[in-house]
Amino acid sequence: MATVLAIETSCDETGVAIVKNRKVLSNVVASQIAIHHPYGGVVPEVASRHHLEMVNSVLDQALETAGLDWSAIDGVAATCAPGLVGALLTGITAAKTLALVQNKPFLGIHHLEGHIYASYLTETTLQPPFLCLLVSGGHTSLIHVKDCGVYHTLGHTVDDAAGEAFDKVARLLNLGYPGGPIIDQLASQGNPKAFTLPEGKISLPNGGYHPYHSSFSGLKTAVLRLVQALKQDNQPLPVADIAASFQETVAKSLTKRAIACAVDFGLDTIAVGGGVAANSGLRNYLQEAAKLHNLRVLFPPLKYCTDNAAMIACAASDHLNQGHLSPLTLGAQSRMSL
Ligand code: KG4
Ligand code: ZN
Repeated sequence: MATVLAIETSCDETGVAIVKNRKVLSNVVASQIAIHHPYGGVVPEVASRHHLEMVNSVLDQALETAGLDWSAIDGVAATCAPGLVGALLTGITAAKTLALVQNKPFLGIHHLEGHIYASYLTETTLQPPFLCLLVSGGHTSLIHVKDCGVYHTLGHTVDDAAGEAFDKVARLLNLGYPGGPIIDQLASQGNPKAFTLPEGKISLPNGGYHPYHSSFSGLKTAVLRLVQALKQDNQPLPVADIAASFQETVAKSLTKRAIACAVDFGLDTIAVGGGVAANSGLRNYLQEAAKLHNLRVLFPPLKYCTDNAAMIACAASDHLNQGHLSPLTLGAQSRMSL
């Protein structure tokens, strides 16, 4: 029954949470979205500096909300990879220092393992094996979750991540950052059948297509060409129709691959994680398709879909229960396979 305090600083959210096994005792997130908004994306150096400024107060808040002092904490964890190195270093250094000073075990957690664990926070009945569809700003993966720490990536994007595609399309439509929620909102007012956009497919040497890998850079280029053509004709840009058509293409593509994976590998549950799990188009498509195949789909609440430390603490708590620890020499890495 391990109680773990975890720090998440892989990108633009400073998160600290305390989780006792799968129960969240506190989950504090200081978002930097407003700070990066004028730049149209996350500026790595700015992100690290703000994590440094925020981490102590977020930490105090997490302990205060949980009503705990250090004697109740069994371990200290931090996201160690993948992510922005400067940002990761802030969290991992804080966690290692606390572990050393408070004489607690330290655990470095893979960010994607955290996103997988987000589903356990509210679905107490969830047990491996299951399929995780992980769709965030940096990743688009289909992961066969076999056990704690045992993961097999079955599919991934070969270029842009799904969230990155939402952000880039929003930028070329001058909609602001982050693009996902804005496109989602606009799409609800548009016609998803207004424009036919290409679903990225990965060719195989035998002439077929990879059933689980995805590609979004061609789709983004198709939206760019469409916008250029419409502008040339001096037509007012039907932004809501473009947003709806783009969103439907992404939702269909992700749904098709996730269902194929689950069916082919005999997995009856698809747990969705990452910021794009908030997308209403994806939620609708996947839920409808899953019904047809008798599959269960789990979407964690929004606060656990986007980056947060509760999912990191949950993963760390499971690892600690199994006696897994990390050395204090562990560093941060921008890239690391799961
Ligand atoms: O998981 P996350 O918070 O951070 C990463 O680890 O990347 O995901 C952020 C991504 C951004 O690209 C954002 O545009 C996207 O999730 N996102 C959405 C929605 N809400 C956030 N994409 C589509 N629809 C949404 N409602
Ligand atoms: Zn993430």
